[in-house]
Amino acid sequence: MKKLKCGVIGAGRVGQMHIENLQTIREVEVVCVADLFIEDARENLNTLGITELYQDYQEVLANQEIEAVFIFTSTDTHEEIAIAAAQAGKHIFCEKPLSMDLAEEASLRVLRAVKDHEVKMQIGFNRRIDRQFHAIYENVRAGAIGKPQLVKITSRDPDLLPHELIKRIGGLLFDFTMHDFDMARYMMGSNITEVYARGGTLIDPTLTEINDVDTLAIVLQFENGGFALIDNSRRAVYGYDQRVEVFGSEGLLKAENVSESAVEYYGNKSEKRKNPLPSFIERYREAYIAEMQFFIHALLEERELLATGIDVIMAQRVAVAAQKSLETGQPVAVDPTYPKI
Ligand SMILES: NC(=O)c1ccc[n+]([C@@H]2O[C@H](COP(=O)([O-])OP(=O)(O)OC[C@H]3O[C@@H](n4cnc5c(N)ncnc54)[C@H](O)[C@@H]3O)[C@@H](O)[C@H]2O)c1
Repeated sequence: MKKLKCGVIGAGRVGQMHIENLQTIREVEVVCVADLFIEDARENLNTLGITELYQDYQEVLANQEIEAVFIFTSTDTHEEIAIAAAQAGKHIFCEKPLSMDLAEEASLRVLRAVKDHEVKMQIGFNRRIDRQFHAIYENVRAGAIGKPQLVKITSRDPDLLPHELIKRIGGLLFDFTMHDFDMARYMMGSNITEVYARGGTLIDPTLTEINDVDTLAIVLQFENGGFALIDNSRRAVYGYDQRVEVFGSEGLLKAENVSESAVEYYGNKSEKRKNPLPSFIERYREAYIAEMQFFIHALLEERELLATGIDVIMAQRVAVAAQKSLETGQPVAVDPTYPKI
């Protein structure tokens, strides 16, 4: 069996989770890891059997035996690191989005570098391959509910993030709802033409100091005439609330929350079921592994990627328009045509 030799850049909150997951995949070998604060991760990475550690990501790119890099750094560094990786001839897996820059040109620079250097790049839209959501997707594509008319997504985090982290990875729309914009488009099989977003700070009023919100209600319209409804919150006291439904001319497909136990209790005074899993780490563990496998097989067997640079640009475009909608209180048009690279 051929193993893909890879390097990882970024070993923070998400990076360390991904590295642990990568270590469970037979077809990949994590050769080295770089992080600005590599000393903070050294002990954990050594325990995982990874000893080649650097502070400077260029050391990973300079390693000739490495074919692919996984970029898990804070969002404000993705553009620079992904371009450097493409120039070094490495295939790329990058967390979303590609840039904090609201201008699409910044993300397009990455896509052009990927094209010019003939490497492949997959984006971390893990929810596409979540077992429940992917089953909905496949059924919709197979025509099980006829013509899809409405996608409904509830996506609520268990708790607030530190403001310092939000500044590095983006606020609710750019970090969190970005996944929902992609999921809505993926399920509907059509591009988004308009977004109307309303939101506020119902949980942490100090978020206004960093121009962020903690609660969102969003309406999307698609090119095929369909709609999507998305609701987000930064704090659901009962866990990580992740539900998706697609309604169509011939029926409905619906995925409820995933809990640690499927056992439900019914008594004469109450009924009980387990709360949803507590955070993205547990809820999407399988999907995080599956998206990496997808990427590795795409490289080893020349197969399609799960989510591309175009997909992340289409989602980021909606996030930018949604921000404008929040600020103006008006629906905002979104260009549904694909960007030219
Ligand atoms: N797909 C998902 O479900 C999901 C969930 C959460 C976060 N994310 C994404 O993951 C990314 C990382 O988020 P996080 O919460 O782990 O952030 P974090 O701040 O905890 O970790 C980022 C790490 O990158 C390192 N870093 C920054 N600049 C670097 C550089 N130039 N060279 C080397 N290392 C550098 C930092 O030292 C830090 O350890 C973000 O883009 C975020 O949007 C994805």
